[in-house]
Amino acid sequence: MAAERLQKVIAAAGIASRRAAERLIAEGRVKIDGQVVRRPGVKADPQVSEIRVDGQRLRPRQRPRRYVILNKPIGCLTTRSDPKRRPTVMDLVPAGFRSLVPVGRLDGNSSGLILLTDDGELAYRVTHPRFRLPKVYLATVRGLPEEKVLDRACRGIRVDGQHLRLDRAEVLTRFPHRSEAKRRSRLMVTLRGGRNREIRRVLSVLGHPVLELHRTRIGSLVDTGLAPGRWRRLAPAEVERLREAIRLATGRKKATAAIRDGGPVVPATTTEPGARGRGTASGVTPAFVVAVDGPAGSGKSSVARGLAERFGLPWFNTGASVRAVALAGMRAGVNLDDGPEVRGLAYRVVLDPAGGVYLDGEEVSRAVRAPEVSRGASRVAVHPELREVLVGQWRRAGSGGGVMEGRDIGTVVFPDAPVKIFLDARPEVRAARRSVDEGDRDVGAVAAEMRRRDRTDSGRAAAPLRRAADAHHLDTSDWTLEETIHRAAALVAAAPGAPPPKGSREISR
Ligand code: DC
Repeated sequence: MAAERLQKVIAAAGIASRRAAERLIAEGRVKIDGQVVRRPGVKADPQVSEIRVDGQRLRPRQRPRRYVILNKPIGCLTTRSDPKRRPTVMDLVPAGFRSLVPVGRLDGNSSGLILLTDDGELAYRVTHPRFRLPKVYLATVRGLPEEKVLDRACRGIRVDGQHLRLDRAEVLTRFPHRSEAKRRSRLMVTLRGGRNREIRRVLSVLGHPVLELHRTRIGSLVDTGLAPGRWRRLAPAEVERLREAIRLATGRKKATAAIRDGGPVVPATTTEPGARGRGTASGVTPAFVVAVDGPAGSGKSSVARGLAERFGLPWFNTGASVRAVALAGMRAGVNLDDGPEVRGLAYRVVLDPAGGVYLDGEEVSRAVRAPEVSRGASRVAVHPELREVLVGQWRRAGSGGGVMEGRDIGTVVFPDAPVKIFLDARPEVRAARRSVDEGDRDVGAVAAEMRRRDRTDSGRAAAPLRRAADAHHLDTSDWTLEETIHRAAALVAAAPGAPPPKGSREISR
């Protein structure tokens, strides 16, 4: 390692974050070759000099860095140790991981994703506002915030002499009630900076105190079904994606990175009300939506995921929310043919911008793939009263841009989407693919069921499965998945306003 700034060397050794290292230096706890150094800018090379922190010799790292994410429960503190001996995130990981450092902070009353690592440089970049990595939260607030209040939250307000703002705030669900005190809303909030308790402070000043706050996403990292208090190691590909996002988020690569890692497509510096990607009334360019429609087994999810990754767009799987409504109904014993009854279930479902779905805060992305839920989904999907609520949710979800996967995205939800792709494949190919998805279920049975569902989806009165006149029709029967994604990506890249694809010159420059 060449000589680097001292705080960076200390962070790279996994001892502390860069900021904490600066404090250690200022406090006179760091020595280079026996001399106390208090100037943070000093450069040093641990291969050449003897660097000690609190007397401990800094050794260049031998073993690979480690990365863990954890779903922090409420009541647990984000710190390495608490003088009052309250429970901390470190109590939730095995002893072998206790040397890792929590990245950033989630206050005691909040829950959700926390990253732990001994990679000081990554920790620094994930938390530093300069790198603008988006963190996404689900917030339950008191009251029913109006649009103009959310616009205000995103423009920013002064609180105790600080300018605080949210980068994006969308109402996912409103829970009206006769009694004003009992009205609630669930919001999806994105922050790219993140001062202490910023979400809570902004929303509270605007009259909507936060009752529950849960972080669902850190850049590209999502909580893939971790129960509260559970942890998992990151897969190498997850670390790689995160690294790319924070390395790109500098100088002129910033805008590209903002798009790639799932943030709003409009520039983050915009202060117009439309900065949250909402509509065109404010004159802001409409969000870049890719509509991917088609019947079951046509490859929608794989293609939508592939496109989202390639263009760094969020991915919303609208079929998953129909499925989650069915699952909610099945769990509660609701008659799935009762439209008004089923409609109420939609308010409990939230789509994650990484293709997943939540029911009452529980990640159910896998549970909704069960064959009996598929059957339930096609029953509930026929109700116009349910579709009205879902279409509203899908439009809000996609208002900041993204790949939207479904049946009626190009015809009903986003009829003005700049790219529409209608995927199809011969029925026997679709049945074979679905049978693999469902753990090698009998192809004949899958095919019969699929025909029934296709008939319901295409024959229903409300938003039937139909190809939009201006959609690109791709028959994927004889293509590999890579080929299909490649062709679909070419269509996306050619559309006006498309973000640059990964690996393109704009990105690698
Ligand atoms: O794409 P999928 O198999 O996950 O969809 C599940 C069900 O939901 C299917 O019956 C079609 C229906 N659906 C819908 O009606 N509208 C959408 N936008 C997405 C799915």
